[in-house]
Amino acid sequence: MAELEVLDDAAVLIDGERIAWVGPRKEAPVGAQHAAPLQTVEVTGVIFPGFIDCHTHAVFGGPRLDDHERRALGVDYKAIAAAGGGILQSVRDVRGRSAAELEALTRARLAALLARGATTIEVKSGYGLELEAELKQLRVVKRLTAELCATLVPTFLGAHEVPPEYRGNRAAYVRLVCEEMLPAVAREELAQSCDVFCEPGVFSVQESRQILTAARRHGLAVKVHADELEGSGGAELAAELGALSADHLAAISDPGIRALAASETVAVLLPATMIFLGKRSQAPARRLIDAGAAVALATDFNPGTSPTMSLPLVMALGVSQLGLRHAEVVTAVTINAAAALGLAQGRGQIAPGCVADLVVAAVDDWREVAYWMGTDVVSAVWTAGSACPA
Ligand code: NIG
Ligand code: FE
Repeated sequence: MAELEVLDDAAVLIDGERIAWVGPRKEAPVGAQHAAPLQTVEVTGVIFPGFIDCHTHAVFGGPRLDDHERRALGVDYKAIAAAGGGILQSVRDVRGRSAAELEALTRARLAALLARGATTIEVKSGYGLELEAELKQLRVVKRLTAELCATLVPTFLGAHEVPPEYRGNRAAYVRLVCEEMLPAVAREELAQSCDVFCEPGVFSVQESRQILTAARRHGLAVKVHADELEGSGGAELAAELGALSADHLAAISDPGIRALAASETVAVLLPATMIFLGKRSQAPARRLIDAGAAVALATDFNPGTSPTMSLPLVMALGVSQLGLRHAEVVTAVTINAAAALGLAQGRGQIAPGCVADLVVAAVDDWREVAYWMGTDVVSAVWTAGSACPA
């Protein structure tokens, strides 16, 4: 993860939507072999592979300002949730809004993520928790996919919480997810993956296994919100199921670390979440890397625990809070984040054959992208070979 190839005075040749060549400018193969006229764009600064935000909950209504203040006054996340705030507040909000309203809110937020360099963005449902409201969220993502410059990767998270109407009968909600929601999502091709919030007090390891196994039967890849606040074996479950990723992991156990290290499952760490929750601990990033796990970073953009739309901010936190090197955080938001979405074949690198998603940072030294904490250093973005509007 710490080995980046950094070129000075480089050139990138783009052919259509893909990268055709990259190397020292003086060796650029411009001339006879290219029939089409060459358009040249001079860039000052550093060009990175487009950043990949592999974990967001970007479709929601309003912010959760009261939760924020209650936490500041000492009430913790789970106590707020138990009192009807937390995820369920956003659920009431999303259920009550029209699709058009949610689409307008989401469009602006995804544009903000893109302007800060996120050219591929995973987006989860999970604030509907009933069939129509979950479909409403995922259809918003589908419509915006056709319109936005960024690539959107939708994930079904119907098991984000047990909705109030099923509190006395959890098993019935798990059945609803497996037998009605998943088939409907798969039929309309509204998601590539299925995620579950596997956490004591939310969904148990057994319930999560049941849902994710059903998801696989419907042809979806799987992801797990694992060991976020209290460890329960979510990381081990992710490895057992061959999940694309196990996400959060602040409370991962030693066997969990070993299980991820021995698997293809990417450990997605979300340092902005722990900061925003006011926690002093973070996921054991260094131990995961030293054990041999692949680590990615993401924003976890959501109204409850991480209202940030900046991957470069998360990269700075990756260095200062997780103890990662600058090169490691670049790997964590490019090729490793691509792997967390099953897209490592064609994204996350500036290499021939990859999709021409590129980000320019107006800095002298590439390490500065993870240094100017909370300052926008991204000055231009291209996706699939075309410049995105500023
Ligand atoms: O990733 N952990 C569960 N889901 C979100 C929080 C969602 C919310 O509070 O609205 C997370 O932190
Ligand atoms: Fe999350």
